[in-house]
Amino acid sequence: MNLSRRMFLHSGLMTGAALAVAPKVMAEPTLPGWHVGYANAPAEGFAPAPMKLVRGRVPAGLTGTLYRNGPAWFRHGDQYATHWFDGDGMVQRIAIGDGKAVHSGRFADTKKRRLEMQAGKFLAPGFGTKGDPSFPVGSSDDVNPGNISVMMSGGELLALWEGGSAYRMDPVSLETKGFKVWREDLKGMPFLAHPKREPDGRVWSLATSGSRVGIYNINPDGSTKDFGMVDIGARHYIHDWTMTERKLIILCQPWIQTKNIPPFIDGFVWKPEEGMKFLIIDKDDLKKTRWAQGPARSFYHTGAAWEESDGTIRLDAAFYPEPILGSGGGADEIRGKYAGDQATSKLTMAVIPVSGDVKMIETSIAGDFPQVDPRRHGLSRKLTAMVSGSDPGQPGGNSLAVQDWSTGKSQVFDFGDGYMVEENLFVPKGTGAAETDCWLIGTAINSKLGRSEVHVFDAGHVSDGPVAVWQAGYAWPLGFHGTWA
Ligand SMILES: [Fe+2]
Repeated sequence: MNLSRRMFLHSGLMTGAALAVAPKVMAEPTLPGWHVGYANAPAEGFAPAPMKLVRGRVPAGLTGTLYRNGPAWFRHGDQYATHWFDGDGMVQRIAIGDGKAVHSGRFADTKKRRLEMQAGKFLAPGFGTKGDPSFPVGSSDDVNPGNISVMMSGGELLALWEGGSAYRMDPVSLETKGFKVWREDLKGMPFLAHPKREPDGRVWSLATSGSRVGIYNINPDGSTKDFGMVDIGARHYIHDWTMTERKLIILCQPWIQTKNIPPFIDGFVWKPEEGMKFLIIDKDDLKKTRWAQGPARSFYHTGAAWEESDGTIRLDAAFYPEPILGSGGGADEIRGKYAGDQATSKLTMAVIPVSGDVKMIETSIAGDFPQVDPRRHGLSRKLTAMVSGSDPGQPGGNSLAVQDWSTGKSQVFDFGDGYMVEENLFVPKGTGAAETDCWLIGTAINSKLGRSEVHVFDAGHVSDGPVAVWQAGYAWPLGFHGTWA
């Protein structure tokens, strides 16, 4: 399928016919059905195509757009990507309104992707890719695949990576419009893929740069209020972090960069004897900091945090006993092989007292991609949703779990075999709605049918199953994170 750029840009007018001509992820008959999650998406992207409601009813009042980002290019001819995290970023857009869900998707237009598509091979070094010495690397943005997450800021859609700038994209056509420059002197400064939004719309994010970490404070209109730096003492691997109403919390896991070599992650050493250190920073004065010591854990994702009246901080995260997806992460899956689960994480509440060591309270929920009600980032709350479970025959989670911290109980919905479930986001049903009165919306791949689906749950009744399921006529690759706008 070869769609022209003009057709893509104007294809908002396309209707039912789009399903019949929708480009498919390159599934190969010799590969298992789940491999569509790790296969190349069409180079020209996915033209807008309506999804079919296959279960339940359209939730009244659910109007908006789910954007998601993730790697979607893993193979040039016989050459495979050597790490899942290094595939070119593609933003998926699912517009929901008037009882319809319409999917489209488009690759971030990056220097890396342009040069590699011209050459017909992978060239750029990356998180887990050594790269070809011929590839010109002047700055980290030269290798930036823009493939981890998305955020809306000041009316712009931003595609986020962790080691470089954000890419500005048109929120409707998904056309890439160049790098986001937050402030002239911050040009090229990395912007982490896990920004946190205050209830008033202000955004905090980090810039990782060795043992120094930059801190962005962004106004609700997308302008930059402030930027400062803190020292974390060593080159810890930082993918995510968290905050309370008054504090920023950087979790310094003992996965520490000791060498600057390609691929990036091969320069890191796991030093469990150092434990996990938590740097707590005053939002109003970045010089006011304190450290807390916890046991060794590795992690990619936090849920969120809050501070109690006595100063105790509680934060939840998907903690692993040791790093996963380091060197070679996902390389087997990209080739259609699956050897079973790696180390299992646990949804864990870390309790940081005003003085003394951090205590870990583990739940029985194994999985990742924790999410909370976006109105309660930094505030006390009850619920955390997380992808959990597994089908022994294929990678990824196949359940959605919701932990209620106020009761210690959880609800789980098992999608059954043949599903790969992705991150689910809380969407409040209205202003002032309780946490339990939210929808949870997320995507999943139905690997038996080779189709991607959008599932909507009632956050208070997850174990009852989805209230609505839309199905595409094809699958798009597994992604990492999304946002609801
Ligand atoms: Fe992430």
